Amino acid sequence: MSQHDILIIGSGAAGLSAALVLAERAKVLVLAKGALDAGSTAWAQGGIAAVLDEGDTFEDHIRDTMVAGAGLNRRETVEWVVEHAPEAIARLAALGVPFNAEAGALHLTREGGHSHRRIVHVDDATGFAVQVALIKAAAAHPNITLLPHQVAIDLVTERHRADGATDTSRRVWGVYALDAQTGSVHCHTARATILATGGAGRTYLFSTAPRGATGDGIAMAWRAGARVANMEFMQFHPTCLYNLDVKNLLITEAVRGEGGHLRLPTTGERFMPRFDPRAELAPRDIVARAIDHEIKRLGLDYVHLDISHKDPDFVRAHFPNIHERLLALGIDMTREPIPVVPAQHYTCGGVLIDLAGRTDLAGLYAVGECSESGLHGANRLASNSLLECFVFGDGAARDILARWDEFSAPPAIRAWDDSRVTDSDEEVVIKQNWTELRRFMWNYVGIVRTNKRLERAAHRIKLLKNEVNEYYGHFRVTADLIELRNLLQTAELIVKSARARHESRGLHFNQDYPATHPAARDTVLVP
Ligand code: FAD
Ligand code: SIN
Repeated sequence: MSQHDILIIGSGAAGLSAALVLAERAKVLVLAKGALDAGSTAWAQGGIAAVLDEGDTFEDHIRDTMVAGAGLNRRETVEWVVEHAPEAIARLAALGVPFNAEAGALHLTREGGHSHRRIVHVDDATGFAVQVALIKAAAAHPNITLLPHQVAIDLVTERHRADGATDTSRRVWGVYALDAQTGSVHCHTARATILATGGAGRTYLFSTAPRGATGDGIAMAWRAGARVANMEFMQFHPTCLYNLDVKNLLITEAVRGEGGHLRLPTTGERFMPRFDPRAELAPRDIVARAIDHEIKRLGLDYVHLDISHKDPDFVRAHFPNIHERLLALGIDMTREPIPVVPAQHYTCGGVLIDLAGRTDLAGLYAVGECSESGLHGANRLASNSLLECFVFGDGAARDILARWDEFSAPPAIRAWDDSRVTDSDEEVVIKQNWTELRRFMWNYVGIVRTNKRLERAAHRIKLLKNEVNEYYGHFRVTADLIELRNLLQTAELIVKSARARHESRGLHFNQDYPATHPAARDTVLVP
């Protein structure tokens, strides 16, 4: 059992932003499931959106965010995040993030859905630079303990009290976590807990997200009794490399922002103008659906993303990492088009929070991709998600510090009991269910949905959930089992939300309900 003032589950942009503020006053423990830099943050390419250009305005960034979000965004959240963006960039620069600059000002690139150049970046590997700077600052802070390879299993609540007291306050006191290196389960308690566990991309067969994106925080919060919202809005990035061996290499949207065109590999036709006047720079949902439509209509495996008409030096200078990684795979993007397909990319829904990052449960906050703050609505605008991590990570930490006296020390908590389980002799169940789940989610709950496909998915999830719950009750937990249980829980929430929405809006397109209702409503699931 370890006890700290504050427990943060997740060492990405959201978790470490919060840790650095809290550590001014409190002892903070940060858990990560694998290595500290193994979340999505280190994989982010394009950059971070912020109004920094003279001709740009907050109002324009707010409008672009709400147009992309198909009107489902909460305006007060959008204003809060957009208006705090410049100071978030200044904080990162002060931590040493080497943003690209030109003539004494930050270089701003462009991405789909943005009406101005607005994206601050570090070449085409922004997230890595941010992650390195955050880890360096956190590791150097005497009040922060960083603990990698700890797989959080379930939140500790009132029902885990050692004294057996039954309190109805639905208070969260920390988490049980598996030490992936020793196989033992520890209880980490704290006055307040912040979930910063990232998204649930690995619910799908093809995803740009890292392996650990299994919706753990969303599933844990749901099981503990917190509401979850808008899970039907799974974002598919239009341009993931099509390669049978390398399945999750993202080709940043900035390639289109800097002039790249989408073409049919058969005729070379530039097809996006047929779908939207903004062509390649339309919001992601529109571009991904257009590609999916052309692929299905013509029986293609992929479409082409082509920037070879630009000066090769310009391409190499703007996209040095992608250029190099593609060259290693035999594709020279300065001379030839890149084969691309859409892939799952971002989880817009999550644990429902307010403007301070508070969830329904006392002592539990959620920030970053695992949360639903109202920023993204029905479709996230490119490069708004890292921004959300910095603004909400900082905001949640400040809310905790401001309310410090309300957070009492945790009571004694029961130790994890594994006296009635044994080691598994059937690991094959996990592999089989994991693959099956991701495949039917891709086929039935993907870019285009129908009532029948959603019903089929719901039926299969029920079967797999029963099987995995039985397995969970009999065998000692492993990292794979914990993730599979959470993937299934998250998939159930996605399908439940998708079935509850009787319209098409933003990322959720259902052929049986193609129209958009005049009034935008959140899908809020209550445990
Ligand atoms: P993450 O960075 O994913 O971190 C999650 C943390 O939680 C990790 O430390 C993980 O170990 C930990 N964790 C998870 N489960 C558990 C558990 N059970 N127990 C213990 N720890 C756990 N957004 C932009 O704004 N701009 C971009 O250019 C951009 N490019 C992207 C490119 C790619 C390829 C991808 C995949 C995403 C991109 N995004 C981009 C999205 C953005 O990177 C993420 O939304 C953001 O980094 C999420 O940060 P986070 O802190 O919420 O979670
Ligand atoms: C990209 O670089 O295309 C990803 C940007 C984002 O997901 O916000």
